[in-house]
Amino acid sequence: MSAPHRGGRHFLQIPGPTNVPDRILRAIAQPTIDHRGPAFADLTRALLPAVSRIFRTAGPVIIYPSSGTGAWEAALVNVLAPGDRVLAFDTGYFAGLWQELATRLGLQVELVPGDWRHGVEPALVQQRLAGDRQHAVKAVMVVHNETSTGVTSGVAEVRAAIDAADHPALLLVDTISSLASIDYRHDEWGVDVTVGGSQKGLMLPPGLGFNAVSAKALDAARQGGLPRSYFDWGPILAANRDGFYPYTPATNLLYGLREAIAMLEEQTLEAVFARHQRHGHATRAAVRAWGLEVLCQDERRHSGVLTAVVMPEGHDADALRERILERFDMSLGAGLGRLKGRVFRIGHLGDFNDLMLAGTLCGVEMGLALSGVPIARDGVAAALACLETPPASGVASPTAGA
Ligand SMILES: Cc1ncc(COP(=O)(O)O)c(C=O)c1O
Repeated sequence: MSAPHRGGRHFLQIPGPTNVPDRILRAIAQPTIDHRGPAFADLTRALLPAVSRIFRTAGPVIIYPSSGTGAWEAALVNVLAPGDRVLAFDTGYFAGLWQELATRLGLQVELVPGDWRHGVEPALVQQRLAGDRQHAVKAVMVVHNETSTGVTSGVAEVRAAIDAADHPALLLVDTISSLASIDYRHDEWGVDVTVGGSQKGLMLPPGLGFNAVSAKALDAARQGGLPRSYFDWGPILAANRDGFYPYTPATNLLYGLREAIAMLEEQTLEAVFARHQRHGHATRAAVRAWGLEVLCQDERRHSGVLTAVVMPEGHDADALRERILERFDMSLGAGLGRLKGRVFRIGHLGDFNDLMLAGTLCGVEMGLALSGVPIARDGVAAALACLETPPASGVASPTAGA
């Protein structure tokens, strides 16, 4: 038997999957059509360039019926050969999972250690690549927004570091939790493969994975890569030219994607980025006014998507989350990996507004108090003071969270 209805809406404040707006749910609820018929070809032909706009690329974007993990694997198997060396950074739990996946595929991963409180250090990228005179490193893997920590990495700066070392390594970037939430520019930042997923900034249910690919990445894929079949870009791009896929695509999620892009473009991506930054700022104001610590220790790298909050010694983040779920019907993100029980994560991304954030922070403040966590009861007030300031009508700072 399912649990009885509790009244009102559940607050899904994990950093993805996010709230799926009614408009998108209605779009997904349209009848499934023949994926080999003309109506489907019309859908794909209009959709693919729209998806490229979200990644800010003039090049192709491959859409997989997969979770983000599938899109991670697709990026690696298309451009890297067995035994290739790749450079990765231990910036958090997801960066760790991606490098483990690379290792399992037979790649040699050089993992630069990190404290999970800072992003990728571009100077280290330059130093490491400048020392690689033989060009043994074939790719640099970066997670743009580390969902486990709320710390971003500067993709443009990493690109500049690769260029400064005059190194031909490909740049592979995970934007699974930053796409359509934090400023991102595939072409301008010279990224070779951008990996994305549907269930975060795109406001869709889980189930779609993306690879945006540069001409250099396409070339690498044509010349070699790892053994692959389903994830091979070649047959998909060939079928896409006529508006089709070489397998049965996730038709209804594609309806949802079309609607999501329309909604993002109605708001403008710049306004969406600025909204996320503003909500991140208000959330940090709350955390600091409670007297708690934000996990991210670099002011330039705070995520607009989520905030990871460090629990005071002797207090368990999972017990807090359980209590908040039980009392206020709100789900918060758990601490992952080495952060288990030590942090909780407040998701403030996707289809979200000021009052939803205010409600979220009220639930967190009450939960902290009920759990006996020593806090000042000033967090919500501090956040409301931020939210009373009208959003700037201008454009999000191009470097914020980049
Ligand atoms: C940054 C990041 N990368 C990769 C993944 C893995 O994606 P999925 O769980 O959709 O396979 C996630 C999932 O949350 C993520 O946040």
